[in-house]
Amino acid sequence: MSLPASLRVRHVSFPHAKPPEGAHDIRITVLDKLTYAGVRENLDPVADHPRYSFVQGDVCDDVVLDRVLPGHDAIVHFAAETHVDRSIVGSAPFATTNVLGTQLLLDAARRHGVGRFLHVSTDEVYGSIPVGSWSEATPLAPNSPYAAAKAGSDLLALAAHRTHGMDVVVTRCSNNYGPYQFPEKVPLYGDGRMYATGCTYRTTAAGSHWRCATARPGRSTTSAAAPS
Ligand SMILES: NC(=O)c1ccc[n+]([C@@H]2O[C@H](COP(=O)([O-])OP(=O)(O)OC[C@H]3O[C@@H](n4cnc5c(N)ncnc54)[C@H](O)[C@@H]3O)[C@@H](O)[C@H]2O)c1
Repeated sequence: MSLPASLRVRHVSFPHAKPPEGAHDIRITVLDKLTYAGVRENLDPVADHPRYSFVQGDVCDDVVLDRVLPGHDAIVHFAAETHVDRSIVGSAPFATTNVLGTQLLLDAARRHGVGRFLHVSTDEVYGSIPVGSWSEATPLAPNSPYAAAKAGSDLLALAAHRTHGMDVVVTRCSNNYGPYQFPEKVPLYGDGRMYATGCTYRTTAAGSHWRCATARPGRSTTSAAAPS
């Protein structure tokens, strides 16, 4: 089974078949607010695909969620405010979209009986590390408002599993790069060695898809990639 051409979808749903079977029946709805960071043209290559549809909307808008979610089997939740520098200048949109938006999306998913909820978190929830690596058991220690808001949404997603038994999986992947990257994400911090790891959007899309299909609920993972 493979995702359609879009490598930057925000929410994936499988209304007619559960992954990994029935790939030919998968339909995908992309829900995106199209903020400054959203580029609709990135999805032009699949714009006319019969199993793809696009809805411009906000994850903080219950009315939109109640209209879009019924009939969907799974959600891959990419939507977020993500630029660290912007979060330092103004943190409120990060708390709103990342924390409140994720909770509203979780609530709506539960309300409408959506199955798997894959929450795309980030390795930045662990803070920084001079050498070595983190494991899923490493305590969260976010440094920026962006990372703190992502940590909040990450924990809310896991809490939805523990509290309500929702089928939630969280990925905490490192930096992504590749085609369609928004220009402001390209600069590196410090001397450029702050981000020593990374993976391509294609890897993350494939990994998200694989975890959506196979991962055990209530788990977080530091890897975005599917096993080769
Ligand atoms: N880019 C990376 O290196 C990286 C690494 C780890 C995790 N992540 C996570 O992956 C996800 C996507 O990252 P990105 O770099 O593509 O982000 P991005 O900032 O480039 O794009 C964010 C997208 O979310 C949409 N969006 C923002 N607020 C929204 C809202 N309220 N409702 C609906 N849509 C909204 C925007 O329009 C845009 O299309 C984020 O959750 C991010 O935390 C990214």
